[in-house]
Amino acid sequence: MWTPLVLVLVTSWRAFAQVPLPEPPFLPQNASAGASPSSAGIPNAQWSSLLGNLLYFYEAQRSGKLPSTNRVKWRNDSALTDGQDVKLDLTGGLYDAGDYIKCTFPLSFTVMSICWGATDFGKGYDLANQTPYLDDMLRWSLDWLIKAHAANNTLFVQVANEEVDNAYWGGDRNIPLPRPSYQINDTSPGTDAAAGTAAAFAACSNLYANRIFSNSYSGPATLQNATYAATLLEHAQQLFTFATGASGGHAVYQHSVPEVGKAYASSGYGDELAIAALFLSWATNSSSLYQQAQGYWQQYSLGSYDGVFNWDNKTPGLPVLFAQIAQANPSFGGNASTWQTVAEKYFDGIVYGGGPGYQTRGGLLYYNGDSDDASLNPSLNAAMLLTRYVPLASTQSRRNDYWNYAKTQVNYALGNNPMQAPYIVGANPNSPQNPHSAMASGGNNISQINTSPPQEAYVLYGGVVGGPDKYDRFFDIRADWPETEIALDYNAPMLTLAAMHVLNDTADPFYTSLKAGAYDSKKPQGMPCDAAYTDGCGGPQLSQGGKIVLGVIPGLTGLAIFSLLGWWAMVSFRREHDLLY
Ligand SMILES: *[C@@H]1O[C@H](CO)[C@@H](O)[C@H](O)[C@H]1NC(C)=O
Ligand SMILES: *[C@@H]1O[C@H](CO)[C@@H](O)[C@H](O)[C@H]1NC(C)=O
Ligand SMILES: *[C@@H]1O[C@H](CO)[C@@H](O)[C@H](O)[C@H]1NC(C)=O
Ligand SMILES: *[C@@H]1O[C@H](CO)[C@@H](O)[C@H](O)[C@H]1NC(C)=O
Ligand SMILES: *[C@@H]1O[C@H](CO)[C@@H](O)[C@H](O)[C@H]1NC(C)=O
Ligand SMILES: *[C@@H]1O[C@H](CO)[C@@H](O)[C@H](O)[C@H]1NC(C)=O
Ligand SMILES: *[C@@H]1O[C@H](CO)[C@@H](O)[C@H](O)[C@H]1NC(C)=O
Ligand SMILES: *[C@@H]1O[C@H](CO)[C@@H](O)[C@H](O)[C@H]1NC(C)=O
Ligand SMILES: *[C@@H]1O[C@H](CO)[C@@H](O)[C@H](O)[C@H]1NC(C)=O
Repeated sequence: MWTPLVLVLVTSWRAFAQVPLPEPPFLPQNASAGASPSSAGIPNAQWSSLLGNLLYFYEAQRSGKLPSTNRVKWRNDSALTDGQDVKLDLTGGLYDAGDYIKCTFPLSFTVMSICWGATDFGKGYDLANQTPYLDDMLRWSLDWLIKAHAANNTLFVQVANEEVDNAYWGGDRNIPLPRPSYQINDTSPGTDAAAGTAAAFAACSNLYANRIFSNSYSGPATLQNATYAATLLEHAQQLFTFATGASGGHAVYQHSVPEVGKAYASSGYGDELAIAALFLSWATNSSSLYQQAQGYWQQYSLGSYDGVFNWDNKTPGLPVLFAQIAQANPSFGGNASTWQTVAEKYFDGIVYGGGPGYQTRGGLLYYNGDSDDASLNPSLNAAMLLTRYVPLASTQSRRNDYWNYAKTQVNYALGNNPMQAPYIVGANPNSPQNPHSAMASGGNNISQINTSPPQEAYVLYGGVVGGPDKYDRFFDIRADWPETEIALDYNAPMLTLAAMHVLNDTADPFYTSLKAGAYDSKKPQGMPCDAAYTDGCGGPQLSQGGKIVLGVIPGLTGLAIFSLLGWWAMVSFRREHDLLY
């Protein structure tokens, strides 16, 4: 009889174990609110709402038993048996994207990115009154990662099977079973997933413990809690020990768990080892961990990488973090000016040209291959790193140029593009209406994904969609997942950028200047040509060159670039899952 009583007590205690949520709650306003300019000032009300919506998106992605404070009324409790196959409770956490799998590797990247952002630009969350929701989002995610870290050397890296999940298109009450739990462990290691999760725990421990890097930034969001910070640090240390010391040695995690390679195969683990060691060096005031991180940089030749920053590759963030820490604590023995040089070589390649990325005609930073699917992600991640790096730049001209370049990318995503579409759901009347999200669509027949129902049932406020193609064309089609899917990691850089703009920008986000109907008058004719659709590939609007590059064979571009690195290049082409289309 008294077990339920204990549960009730625990539940109510948990509800107070965090920054109290506002009453009444913050709720997104309908899209028309994004078409009226706000009165200029700091904080700017439009940037504050955007920050709120970006966080609200993560609430819509929740799995498990939803708390009484749930704001997304059209969501239900779901996947309540997760973990039963391994006799554990793995309920909770977040669904990865438009489907219902839970993926630890991209989730931990997302959480790391958000915690790092909220350490540097955290006062933006405070000013926008969004810190309680930031705390809520982080705890929902981290508490699940704690469950997934079931023993010192055991980490669950995925729940649910990719194929089963992708064959399902429907709401959250009929998610197909079984949902197997996949793990890495001492004998079947995953160096990247263990170290990447350690990095997330360490970055968030720094935030919860108020361990700031520098006074050049606004300082952390006000959610400090020493007990929670200590718990997070303990998990970070254990996972780092697992990553470096597993008796099975070092391996990419899909080597141990082939299932995870279908959507999120990793290209290497040197970057995760380095970033975990760095965040941990700061968390534990350890110069030897800082030196260890510098050792990984050398050992894995990370300096030769000039590609994108994302869930798979954290390398471009490393020189920034090395420089931040070297500057903050010279006793670690880091040379800030050396790391500045490394960081600026990379950023100059983006801003002044010479790197592998280039700008589309409409101004989007684009990497052939990586940007062919979710084109906004490389651009927004670059903008996020550039913005963070501005106070560390060696010259005034770089400070200006990096800042301005980052702004062009943010403005592009927010509607300053040839489609006149802000690529965030529910931000403005010109926002995408058909995000690829099974739960928001209201549909339940995958054969009629685009037409049933004609209008998406629920507005997935705050979801950053994949983005346009290299010709700046955006097709607002539900089945076109490279352009319209939403995902945990897509929102992460935009959150940090929005927090920074709340702090710093008196002017509205670009979209308030867009007239209703602007996208309708610009939207492209015909069909797309990408990894989901080939119907548009023969269209008159594409040159022969375009046909080849846009690729009828997904993964080909990636394969060409990475062929030396082996078989995983094929599977590293992400989210192939909806290739049904
Ligand atoms: C700090 O976090 C811990 C762990 O979640 C919680 O038990 C405690 O109540 C929190 N303290 C405050 C003051 O919020
Ligand atoms: C959107 O909200 C405004 C008030 O902010 C209201 O006037 C309008 O009717 C709403 N539109 C829809 C479609 O709900
Ligand atoms: C949640 O359940 C309600 C019925 O209680 C249903 O109308 C709604 O569509 C469900 N939500 C999802 C995402 O399936
Ligand atoms: C360790 O992980 C591998 C790969 O997921 C799995 O096959 C094996 O059963 C796990 N070992 C234990 C003891 O659970
Ligand atoms: C788990 O790691 C901690 C150190 O963080 C250690 O004290 C403990 O003994 C380890 N447990 C096992 C079972 O190895
Ligand atoms: C970090 O360690 C150094 C010695 O290595 C010590 O002088 C310094 O006070 C420590 N800083 C903190 C914040 O503990
Ligand atoms: C840092 O490295 C530069 C060369 O890149 C060197 O000139 C400088 O003396 C070094 N600074 C320190 C403090 O070692
Ligand atoms: C799903 O749609 C297809 C194509 O329109 C149709 O043939 C099929 O009967 C539908 N299935 C259900 C269960 O309604
Ligand atoms: C915002 O930050 C940039 C870069 O540090 C600076 O140039 C600009 O003056 C700031 N704007 C405001 C309004 O603080």
